[in-house]
Amino acid sequence: FLPGTVVEPKTASVAEPLLLNAVRGEDVERPPVWLMRQAGRYMKSYQIICEKYPSFRERSENVDLVVEISLQPWNVFKPDGVILFSDILTPLSGMNIPFDIVKGKGPVIFNPLRTAADVDQVREFFPEESVPYVGESLTILRKEVDNKAAVLGFVGAPFTLASYVVEGGSSKHFSKIKRLAFSQPKVLHALLQKFAISMAKYIQYQADNGAQAVQIFDSWATELSPVDFEEFSLPYLKQIVDTVRRTHPNLPLILYASGSGGLLERLALTGVDVVSLDWTVDMAEGRRRLGPDMAVQGNVDPGVLFGSKDFITNRINDVVRKAGKGKHILNLGHGIVVGTPEENVAHFFEVAKGIRY
Ligand code: CP3
Repeated sequence: FLPGTVVEPKTASVAEPLLLNAVRGEDVERPPVWLMRQAGRYMKSYQIICEKYPSFRERSENVDLVVEISLQPWNVFKPDGVILFSDILTPLSGMNIPFDIVKGKGPVIFNPLRTAADVDQVREFFPEESVPYVGESLTILRKEVDNKAAVLGFVGAPFTLASYVVEGGSSKHFSKIKRLAFSQPKVLHALLQKFAISMAKYIQYQADNGAQAVQIFDSWATELSPVDFEEFSLPYLKQIVDTVRRTHPNLPLILYASGSGGLLERLALTGVDVVSLDWTVDMAEGRRRLGPDMAVQGNVDPGVLFGSKDFITNRINDVVRKAGKGKHILNLGHGIVVGTPEENVAHFFEVAKGIRY
């Protein structure tokens, strides 16, 4: 050692969060549990913040509010994963794609991208310059949660982001992005490539600032037929995973796509560590199709949380039994629905945390 060098103690004494142990296939006594969209409108405490700060952009771009909202479900339910309060669209303004999230309407892209010239205007994303509040919030969350749960970051996948910016917002038939894909594929590929480069950087940035695992949301990739998924989504997901692996080989990556039953094996080809299942596929079948090396997440129907307490308990037990011991993160098959009774969410977590393999 050089004179004056401080010898850092090895931090093996700090226990790793259960969620990370479970993903790595270590011996765990129960499945870790968190809920997609666990911070949000079903919580009275969130609604109170919405009254005071009606702008979604403000709630999701102000460090104090992001931290407070992210910690609301943590304070009440003590999930095993604490996801950053943000949105998959948050990086867009830093890429020169102005947007808003409007109450009652959802995401709005002011100038939808439809041409090669539009795509040329999209800038590469520099997270530390464009979204410094994300890094600051993750750092604070990491300190607050203190390894009692895993702090989770997330990004949108290229195809799903492209669907918003081409359609101009949420979509039912995805006709505009399909028109682009099936008549001017080069233009769409140029856009997807920009998102792939930028989202890989964004994952690295989140990990460098405290995220302990990152979920990639390709919510709408399943609007594509399998051959089109192989052209317009899979290569970009692989590119993101490969890029992140080079700098962060041990960062668990979770992939979610809504309605993914027809694509499960292809989702596994991306190289992620965890595939998050929705509820249209049986957990036991999903497990078989993904093989023993892949961890799984999900797959309780969010609608189950509107059922009786006994019903909720039975469905949790059914999924946990079918997932088998280890390599399972208990979660819903999509985000919590607005109007879900908070007491049922409390019951869900209570039952989940009482499980012993
Ligand atoms: O999980 C969490 O608690 C973290 C927060 C989170 C939000 N959006 C906050 C949010 C996460 C992980 C997302 C991801 C997201 N955003 C996805 C992928 C997940 C999925 O549902 O498939 C998608 C497709 C979006 C785009 C988006 N943002 C939509 C479709 C909407 C809903 C519009 C509406 O009004 O219902 C949003 C807005 C949004 N993002 C809300 C929240 C809590 C609701 C609006 C609000 O709270 O004011």
